[in-house]
Amino acid sequence: MRELLIVATGFSLSLALGWLVAPNWSYRTVPQPLQFSHAVHTGGDNKMACQDCHAIQDDGKFAGLPVLSSCATCHTAPMGKTQDEAVFVKDYVTPGREPKWMVASRQPDNAWFPHAAHVKRGKLACETCHGAVGKSQALPLVEVNRISGYSRAVMTRMRMDDCVACHKKHNLSHSCLDCHR
Ligand code: HEC
Ligand code: HEC
Ligand code: HEC
Ligand code: HEC
Ligand code: HEC
Repeated sequence: MRELLIVATGFSLSLALGWLVAPNWSYRTVPQPLQFSHAVHTGGDNKMACQDCHAIQDDGKFAGLPVLSSCATCHTAPMGKTQDEAVFVKDYVTPGREPKWMVASRQPDNAWFPHAAHVKRGKLACETCHGAVGKSQALPLVEVNRISGYSRAVMTRMRMDDCVACHKKHNLSHSCLDCHR
């Protein structure tokens, strides 16, 4: 009886430990090339529009990741005194090096998501899916699953169920091949 109790206790302890450690161990954080404050650019005196940096082009393609040339118009030399801006000008703008931005909301390759259909035709606000990123002080944390390589943000929000739920609400077709190729 006593042995059984010891085994049972040991078993529950290791279960509890695995439960606490595994979800965090499963993900590794991928660093951004540099920090970036949306609030500085979309608020205050700058009041830039989302599409100034994340443009939906005339052909419907979404140029989601900003290119250096769209930043360089303002940042040829530091305008302020922040460390982030100094690093940005010295390491990227002056040598003409594109920052390799990481994407927290990246979907698996087999899922197809077009921005133009949602923003232009569907008239959905960016906030519907991305929350307050456009007003935030820091970029969202990019965490990927060590085994599947999938993004944690996508695995907790913007899952297939979320896509399908909204498509049903809008009476849109939602067959597998609408979103998978
Ligand atoms: C001055 C340029 C600029 C403006 C204006 C801007 N952004 Fe960004 N945004 C960036 C940069 C740089 C990143 C980093 C690239 C990345 O992480 O995808 C970023 C990242 C993001 C991301 C994170 C994507 C991800 O999953 O990692 C979202 C969402 C976003 N921006 C939404 C917005 C919204 C909404 C607005 C308008 C309210 C906006 N942005 C205005 C430059 C800008
Ligand atoms: C219906 C939900 C939805 C709306 C509305 C939406 N997005 Fe996204 N966004 C996503 C998804 C899903 C991804 C991931 C796409 C992928 O991995 O193929 C994404 C990716 C991004 C990225 C990362 C870069 C890239 O090209 O993947 C940026 C930046 C971004 N969105 C900004 C915006 C902005 C700015 C708006 C408003 C103009 C907007 N999004 C509206 C769902 C949405
Ligand atoms: C319309 C002009 C304009 C454009 C375009 C612009 N910025 Fe800025 N940016 C500013 C101003 C103004 C500040 C604030 C400078 C200060 O007073 O500290 C700033 C601050 C910054 C800073 C330091 C604060 C922070 O953490 O965000 C970084 C880094 C930065 N910008 C990166 C970028 C990148 C990357 C792009 C292109 C995707 C970009 N900027 C496009 C005007 C601009
Ligand atoms: C908040 C509501 C909402 C969410 C969430 C949403 N969608 Fe949509 N989606 C729409 C609307 C509205 C349209 C149709 C726009 C139109 O044609 O009028 C659409 C259209 C589409 C289309 C068809 C594009 C075309 O050219 O016909 C695809 C593919 C799609 N969505 C994929 C996705 C995926 C993948 C996700 C999840 C990552 C997603 N959607 C999440 C509302 C949503
Ligand atoms: C409205 C868009 C949409 C529709 C319709 C849709 N899916 Fe998905 N599906 C997604 C997205 C986005 C993901 C990735 C995010 C996730 O795993 O939740 C996904 C993930 C999956 C995965 C997991 C893939 C992996 O690599 O782990 C499977 C399997 C899948 N879908 C099968 C289906 C089947 C079968 C149907 C038809 C009955 C279907 N899907 C319909 C958007 C959609």
